[in-house]
Amino acid sequence: MKFFIDTANLEQIKEAQDLGILDGVTTNPSLMAKEGIKGDENIKNHYKTICEIVEGDVSAEVISTDFKGMIKEGEILAALHPQITIKIPMIKDGIKAIKYFSEKGFNTNCTLVFSIGQALLAAKAGATYVSPFIGRLDDISANGVELVRQIVDMYNYYGYGTQVLAASIRHTQHIIQCAEVGADVITAPLSAIVGLLKHPLTDSGLKTFLADYKKLNG
Ligand code: G3P
Repeated sequence: MKFFIDTANLEQIKEAQDLGILDGVTTNPSLMAKEGIKGDENIKNHYKTICEIVEGDVSAEVISTDFKGMIKEGEILAALHPQITIKIPMIKDGIKAIKYFSEKGFNTNCTLVFSIGQALLAAKAGATYVSPFIGRLDDISANGVELVRQIVDMYNYYGYGTQVLAASIRHTQHIIQCAEVGADVITAPLSAIVGLLKHPLTDSGLKTFLADYKKLNG
């Protein structure tokens, strides 16, 4: 399973990259705004900087909602760096744009996916990634991980090449549950990724090992 970090924060991206387990980055307009990145040139430069920090795919989202606008924006984003994946919302013109980009050989990430039917359309359009938002489904008492499981099963059944990228992950259990149902990729905040490190028995066990070494070796 690939690990992407879901942020536009450069320090957090560097920290995850230094850990040696990072496979890519996802961003969205809200995450860019959170870092105070505004203006087309600053946004483009920020994407380029992220691509220089990490080795894998970096999702950059279009803000147009019409086909022509998405194509124009997507082409500009893709030209920034070979690692850019064009992130496109799950709307009618978005599906058309994904089909267009997939035929031209560009990587796409179909975002804001909340149902199995939407995931089916994304795969048929040739999306590289489909992003079911599991935390937001949990927020409304639905089951986000169950949707990931359904999409994984459906894609396996039909042999679709689209990778299931579980997004809107809020905590470590989401990551573990996504691994259990066979997600291809998770994108998570740094806190959830490093949270996987933690176990009190690891901490107490290490403390004892070091104390026992010290007893004999000073
Ligand atoms: O990857 C999508 C993500 O950024 C949305 O997360 O926590 O706003 O639902 P959240």
